Amino acid sequence: MQINSAEFVISNTDVRKCPDGQLPEYAFIGRSNVGKSSLINMLTGRRGLAMTSATPGKTMLINHFLINKQWYIVDLPGYGFARRGQKGKEQIERIIHSYILQRAQMTCLFVLIDSRHEPQRIDLEFIEWLGENGVPFALVFTKADKMKPGALSANTGRYLLKLQEQWEELPPHFITSSEERLGREELLEYIDNINKQLK
Ligand code: GTP
Ligand code: MG
Repeated sequence: MQINSAEFVISNTDVRKCPDGQLPEYAFIGRSNVGKSSLINMLTGRRGLAMTSATPGKTMLINHFLINKQWYIVDLPGYGFARRGQKGKEQIERIIHSYILQRAQMTCLFVLIDSRHEPQRIDLEFIEWLGENGVPFALVFTKADKMKPGALSANTGRYLLKLQEQWEELPPHFITSSEERLGREELLEYIDNINKQLK
């Protein structure tokens, strides 16, 4: 799929204020600093579209970007950022949970996992929660450029094995690097196929 246009539309904290209409949307979630905003910029080919930062906790709102005037990418705040304090953390969780559970237009949630780390409890619990709530999702391993190829496939393989303890069938999964534009074609094709099925 070609990206002909990508425009920022609105940021907000309330799912009820998200754009009206029936366009499908694809949201990106994961721990703070996992690379959500960078991935959105890589996919759209627009460097400064979503704000990125080396300090976790950059994205605090639900951000809608209209792509090719036909579908939305949604950048969500990261979960599990301790330095926000308990109140801030709970507020972010409320935003994330209400968006995921209430937003009917949300067609697929991409759950980003840092490919360098062992499976983390916070991500596994989040994925379990998605399962309990019947949320459609796919996994995206990020920052592949920071790993040697052997270690990368060992890590992602271990991750999928861990998930198999909980799931009979594994979710779709993608290996990406925003630095090297790895996984771009695969992700855009996946989205394109879903969009075509919805028509
Ligand atoms: P929050 O909005 O704070 O939740 O973070 P985020 O998940 O949106 O992460 P963001 O895209 O802001 O990236 C966090 C840091 O990781 C930045 O310093 C990025 O440059 C870096 N980063 C993101 N993706 C990659 C990648 O594929 N490779 C490398 N090497 N660094 C990356
Ligand atoms: Mg971000």
